Amino acid sequence: MINSRLKQSNKRIFSGIQPTGNLHLGNYLGAIKNWVNLQGDIFSIFSIVDLHAITVPQEPSQLKSSTHEVTAAIIASGIDPKSAIVFNQSSVKEHAELAWIFNCVCRIGWLNRMTQFKEKAGKNREKATVGLYGYPVLMAADILLYKATHVPVGDDQKQHIELARDIASSFNNMFAHDDQKDFFSLPEPQILGQATRVMSLRDGTKKMSKSDFSDFSRINLTDNKDDIVKKIKKAKTDAFPIPESETELSSRLEAQNLINIYAGFEEKSPQVVLDEYSGKGFADFKKDLTEILIEKI
Ligand code: TYM
Repeated sequence: MINSRLKQSNKRIFSGIQPTGNLHLGNYLGAIKNWVNLQGDIFSIFSIVDLHAITVPQEPSQLKSSTHEVTAAIIASGIDPKSAIVFNQSSVKEHAELAWIFNCVCRIGWLNRMTQFKEKAGKNREKATVGLYGYPVLMAADILLYKATHVPVGDDQKQHIELARDIASSFNNMFAHDDQKDFFSLPEPQILGQATRVMSLRDGTKKMSKSDFSDFSRINLTDNKDDIVKKIKKAKTDAFPIPESETELSSRLEAQNLINIYAGFEEKSPQVVLDEYSGKGFADFKKDLTEILIEKI
């Protein structure tokens, strides 16, 4: 039973997460941590999006257990099923139905601009499934099915939410009567916190991702103390001391990533973290970051 007494505004949140592989720090700092902070104040709906997962091949029994694991992980991270609705996407068939209607609204040109499809399909574009290509349309259906007003996500999903806005507005123009021109409100992305795009621990130009072949590129939410110690020790940095300003930090991608992770967990600005550590080498900083990660994870 959702505690509606707490939900004071007209805002409504929807967000989703794929049940594939281990959840990692990027999922936590970019999305789940913000969901936890928002769920008490705003009517919130969170979905484990298994229909999205099958856009690439999945082993059915593995997908079933991953769906349970990801649900457990978000509850362990602080999502409270008494405060928010948590459900499995495929259990509500209307997601797929609305996606089909939106397929008949969305233009091919709009989908051709989606950078995530280009990255995921790579050179094998012709062999990618139609589902992978149309995936952002399903995402628009997820959000608009509940007339969500806000969508808390990591930075990588921003373009998909812009597409959901285009679909909503196009649908309104095509089908809504004069007195219902805002049948679907246009959802706003909420990209919150200091670590909106967590990068790989091995390569600061690449996003931290479940699919990176190296487990040293990410901290999984299931990692134990020893894993975290080893991974932060091995995390790539550079030979220079920690700088004084964010401008100096901006060209040092791996260093910037670690500072942002620290800032994300401590809910401080990166500048405050730099004020604390500037002039020091990475050894001290990494020791403190490791302690924070072990405690929180
Ligand atoms: P998914 O499962 O890839 O990721 C779940 C959430 O984690 C965020 N995230 C990151 N944030 C910061 N740094 C990273 N390295 C990082 N990696 C992942 C994602 O931005 C996301 O918020 N298409 C979505 C799932 C989805 C959805 C929706 C989201 C389906 N329908 C409707 C919002 C609304 C996805 O694949 O997320």
